[in-house]
Amino acid sequence: MQTAGRVVSQWRDEGVERSGTLPSDWYTSRELFELEREHLFRHVWTCVGRTEQVAEPGQFFTCEVANEQVLVVRDRGGQLRALSNVCLHRAGPVAMGCGQRRAFQCPYHGWTYELDGRVRGTQGMENTECFEPGTMRLPEFRAQAWGPLVWVAIEPDVPPLAEWLAQITPRAANYRLDELTYMGGRRWRIECNWKMYVDNYMEGYHIPFIHPGLNQGLSPSVYTYSLGTWSNEQYGAEPHPRGPGSRVASVLGSIQAFRALKPPMPGLDETERNGYYFFWLFPCHTFNFMPDGFLLLSIRPIDVELTESTFSWWFPEEATLDRKLLQAAVVNFGHLVNTEDVEICTHAQKGMRSSVYRQGRYSAEQEKCLHHFHRIASAYMEPHLVRGGNGHLGNGHVAGASESVAR
Ligand code: FES
Ligand SMILES: [Fe+2]
Repeated sequence: MQTAGRVVSQWRDEGVERSGTLPSDWYTSRELFELEREHLFRHVWTCVGRTEQVAEPGQFFTCEVANEQVLVVRDRGGQLRALSNVCLHRAGPVAMGCGQRRAFQCPYHGWTYELDGRVRGTQGMENTECFEPGTMRLPEFRAQAWGPLVWVAIEPDVPPLAEWLAQITPRAANYRLDELTYMGGRRWRIECNWKMYVDNYMEGYHIPFIHPGLNQGLSPSVYTYSLGTWSNEQYGAEPHPRGPGSRVASVLGSIQAFRALKPPMPGLDETERNGYYFFWLFPCHTFNFMPDGFLLLSIRPIDVELTESTFSWWFPEEATLDRKLLQAAVVNFGHLVNTEDVEICTHAQKGMRSSVYRQGRYSAEQEKCLHHFHRIASAYMEPHLVRGGNGHLGNGHVAGASESVAR
C-alpha cells in the first residue's frame, strides 16, 4: 500500500458521513510509528503515575515518555517536578525505580543531584577544565497533578492541562476521586498498533457482538456520544431497574440484585447513578466513571504492533467483606471485557496487514468518536508526512476536499 515518496497513505477528512477510516498502513508502518513518537507523543499530556507516589518531599518514581527518560519527584519545597532522568556525565540513570531520597546519585560514576535537579557533586572531575557543576542542572519537563494522577508533557507547546481535561473535569467532581482509594490494577500486552486499541474504545457499536455480558448490562436505548476538543464522552445507561434480561455477567446475577447489594456511591447525580461515563482523552487515556468507582486505562505504544494497556482502579473504602467482594466482581468483570477487546484487536491488526484491505467506512451514528480521534491524530501527523501523488485511496473512499483540524 505504501507509495514511493510517502510515509503512509493520506487520510482525507470529509466528515464522518463521507470519510473513509484511517488507512491500514497507519497501523503497520514503522516509519509512521517513529514519527508519532516525535511529533505526537512528545506533544501531549501523558499520565505517568499517581500523586500518592510523590506525596512527600524526596518521594520519586521513574518513567519513560516518548523515548524520554523521566524522573518524577517532589522536591524539598514541595514542588512536583519532572526531571530528565539522564545523567549529565555520560547518560546514566539519575534514579531507578521508585522510593524516597534526600538526593540522587547516578549509579555509573557517582555524580549526585539535588531533588530539584541541580548538580550537587561530581567527584573525580577536579582537573576537568571549563567545567562548572555549580551552574548545571537536569533539564526539566512540565509536570502537573490532576486529582490522584500525575501528568507530564515533554514539549512546551502542549495546551495547559486544564484545557486538555476540560470535558472531563466537571464530570469528575461528583465522583470525588481524591476520596477514593487506589486498589491496584492489571497490565496487558496486546499485539496491535496503539491506534487499533484506542479505536476499539471509541464506540459501543461492537458491544453486542464482542461483549455479550456487558451488552446485557447496558440499555441499548441509552447510549450517547459527545465530542470535546481533546476528548470525547460516551454514556451507557444500565437497564431500567425493572427491564428484562438485565444481567451484568453471570457471576453477578441481575444488575438489580447487584445494585440492591451495592448501591451507587453517594453524591452522584441521577445519570451517574444509573450508568457509566466513558471518556477518552487524546491520545492514550480513558476515564471510566462507574456508580461503583473509577477506572483509568493508560495505553502505551511499545512498538508499531505492540501496545501495553494498564487498568488502574479506584474505589471507596468498604468496611464489610461482602462489599469488598462486590468490588472485586466489578474489577473481574472489567478485566473480562478487556480480554474480549484484546482478542478482537489482535485479529483486526492482522487484518490491517492484508494486501486486499485498505480502508473502511464509519458508522455515522455510532463511530463519531472514532472519526474524532482520527481527525486529531491526523492533524498532528499530516504536516510531518511526506506527500507525493494525489494521495487517493480506493475501497469505498469518497473523493472530496480534505479538511484540517487546527492544533
Ligand atoms: S553517567 Fe552518571 S556519573 Fe557517569
Ligand atoms: Fe470493547
